[in-house]
Amino acid sequence: MTATATPADQRGGPLLRVQGLQVHFPIKRGIVVDRTVGHVRAVDGVDLSIDRGTTYGLVGESGCGKSTLGRAILRLVEPTAGSVLFDGTDVAALKGEPLRKMRRRMQMVFQDPLGSLDPRQNVESLLSEPLRAHGLDGGAAGIAAHIRSLLDAVGLPTAALRRYPHEFSGGQRQRIGIARAIALEPDLLIADEPVSALDVSVQAQVVNLLEELQERLGLTYLVIAHDLAVVRHISDVVGVMYLGSLVEQAPADDLYEEPLHPYTRALMSAVPVPDPVVEAGRERILLAGDLPSPANPPSGCRFHTRCPWRQETRCDDEAPVLRELAPGRFVSCHWAEEIRDGVLRPKAPEEVAATQGVHVAPTGVGPVETDALVQGIDQPVERT
Ligand SMILES: Nc1ncnc2c1ncn2[C@@H]1O[C@H](COP(=O)(O)OP(=O)(O)OP(=O)(O)O)[C@@H](O)[C@H]1O
Ligand code: SF4
Ligand SMILES: [Mg+2]
Repeated sequence: MTATATPADQRGGPLLRVQGLQVHFPIKRGIVVDRTVGHVRAVDGVDLSIDRGTTYGLVGESGCGKSTLGRAILRLVEPTAGSVLFDGTDVAALKGEPLRKMRRRMQMVFQDPLGSLDPRQNVESLLSEPLRAHGLDGGAAGIAAHIRSLLDAVGLPTAALRRYPHEFSGGQRQRIGIARAIALEPDLLIADEPVSALDVSVQAQVVNLLEELQERLGLTYLVIAHDLAVVRHISDVVGVMYLGSLVEQAPADDLYEEPLHPYTRALMSAVPVPDPVVEAGRERILLAGDLPSPANPPSGCRFHTRCPWRQETRCDDEAPVLRELAPGRFVSCHWAEEIRDGVLRPKAPEEVAATQGVHVAPTGVGPVETDALVQGIDQPVERT
């Protein structure tokens, strides 16, 4: 894929370039001696590129490999294959001090701030820890000033310094998590489901805070979410992942206006539209069957076991590549043009299920498994 061809040293060019990234976890069996009996293909050949100062939103249902991809970029898990170029440097080739320095420039915001913040440390200690670890404290006065400016940046009062994580609300805790992530003045923030655990009203505030910080500090974001609404508002480019691979990538507005891949179409059809007339006339695309196991993904197109547009030729035995259908619009489907132009029509879920030997719930209810696909997709976030 050639998602962008802008040279890395130009302002606005790629800060991060991921090529052919794979993370396969071994499946071990055996009582006395562990034998590797297979692999979970959590990430299975991902190419993506994120321009400086922009936001890439990564969506997909639970277990499709989003977090593993984020962790592999930071080398919190070792990639099985592929490369991660950060500001032109191959992260996989780094060891020791150079790796530590590179990590300082790439920070992570987690879904569960309570779980990721040490409950025994107060905010002052939580925020000073990364500064000390990287020798950036600048003495007691310097550190105090830096911490106050961090609190100010994330909208928390100075009084928060003496308090502990459990004394804060979910939204405030996420602000502490963000303050900690920006303490070392990174270039890239990987935010893994940063608002999934928060109420919708608080989600909007945290999303706004991330946007403000991006503008002020020139940050580049990879935002991971299963909530299409959250990703829409914050992203310049959105990538949709299915079973370890990207199936579609597009500028956010284009993707929401006209999703091209059948999987993206199904995801989008599950997001409620605020206009009641449009909502009433909308067709919901239901998918048949379970999400297949990443330890044993389907042949050909990985989505063929659930795809309402699946064709007799190519879909079952030829893996589609992510190709550029229109400027900036990448899609991994043999029949994307025919689907876009309405030449091919979708089959009903019962029909898809019958060809795959999948159990389907009674008519009108839809396949039971479809719920898993739309799980967590919320009302669009109201911006404040
Ligand atoms: N350390 C590990 N060892 C073995 N398998 C793993 C490991 N980490 C993740 N997996 C598996 O890899 C696949 C992808 O997991 P991952 O957590 O990346 O998905 P995800 O898209 O982030 O899901 P969610 O939305 O639920 O967070 C899953 O099948 C998961 O069980
Ligand atoms: S290649 Fe075939 S199975 Fe895969 S998404 Fe396209 S139409 Fe569906
Ligand atoms: Mg995850």
